[in-house]
Amino acid sequence: MSKSENKLYGDVHERPVPAKVTVPSIRSRKNGAPLLCLTAYDYPTARLVDEAGFDLILVGDSMANVVLGHASTLKISLDQIISATRAVKRGADRPLVVADMPFGTFHVSPEDTTINALRLIREGGAQAVKLEGGESRAHLIQKLVQADIPVMAHIGLLPQSVHSKGGYQIQGKTLSSAQQVLRDALAVEKAGAFAVVIEGVPSEVASVVTQLLSIPTIGIGAGQGCDGQILVFHDVVGLSTGPAPKFVRRYANLADVIRKALGELVHDIQQGQFPKESEAYALTENLPSHWADDVIEAQSAPESSNSLDRSSP
Ligand code: KIV
Repeated sequence: MSKSENKLYGDVHERPVPAKVTVPSIRSRKNGAPLLCLTAYDYPTARLVDEAGFDLILVGDSMANVVLGHASTLKISLDQIISATRAVKRGADRPLVVADMPFGTFHVSPEDTTINALRLIREGGAQAVKLEGGESRAHLIQKLVQADIPVMAHIGLLPQSVHSKGGYQIQGKTLSSAQQVLRDALAVEKAGAFAVVIEGVPSEVASVVTQLLSIPTIGIGAGQGCDGQILVFHDVVGLSTGPAPKFVRRYANLADVIRKALGELVHDIQQGQFPKESEAYALTENLPSHWADDVIEAQSAPESSNSLDRSSP
């Protein structure tokens, strides 16, 4: 069906196609206007994020928490991220779409990592992938970049390391930890990452790392000194459940908006106030009073002459 034929549900609107954000254009924003990044996991959200002017959409493994209800990000599969990325791509005209590599998809071998990243690009339509880890994953980043797969790195607090670290711990708070954050940043830059997410790191450390790198840094819980900011969509609009980390600023409470709307719908159905005549379809010709009887009678009539009459000789 073409977009204009899909008028019945009124969802698909033609939109002017703006200049697309690319991997080189993200790189060129180093020390420029702040990079605007947000997660999205579906078509309508991607459209809204695009309309708001964000430069980059991450189909993050945070989907495991905020969409699928898991306690950590570890449970999401490659197929689930691929499916979400496809939907996001349909909604995002301008932003660069980056797909997260789930836990387990870059932990077996470099070959396996490349095959999985290729699936995110070829099947999901992502323009780049993100993977968690610094020095210890740099060889994988290098391998992907050599295979023409752009990589956004992710250092600092790594949600996929929740078990090995014994929880979600802010990184870079001590001298040795700050130095490790910097070593990680330099390693992923050298490996060819086009940008790096810095999560859960003191502002002073993230600022110095940002000044020392030639690729853009995108902060989450890393203060103002980064080249851009990223947050989880559901946290920003008030759709996530449970306590949010201190770096989250909530700009709306959509959960309350939805609760109110659904409560009103329940009330209207129960009170016979929905649907109204204007919300139903009209006939284009008058029906005779017996129109239903004819069908019912035909259905209950004995089998026609085609059936076998076992009593006949
Ligand atoms: O999965 C995700 O949403 C992320 C961001 C928080 C950076 O990795």
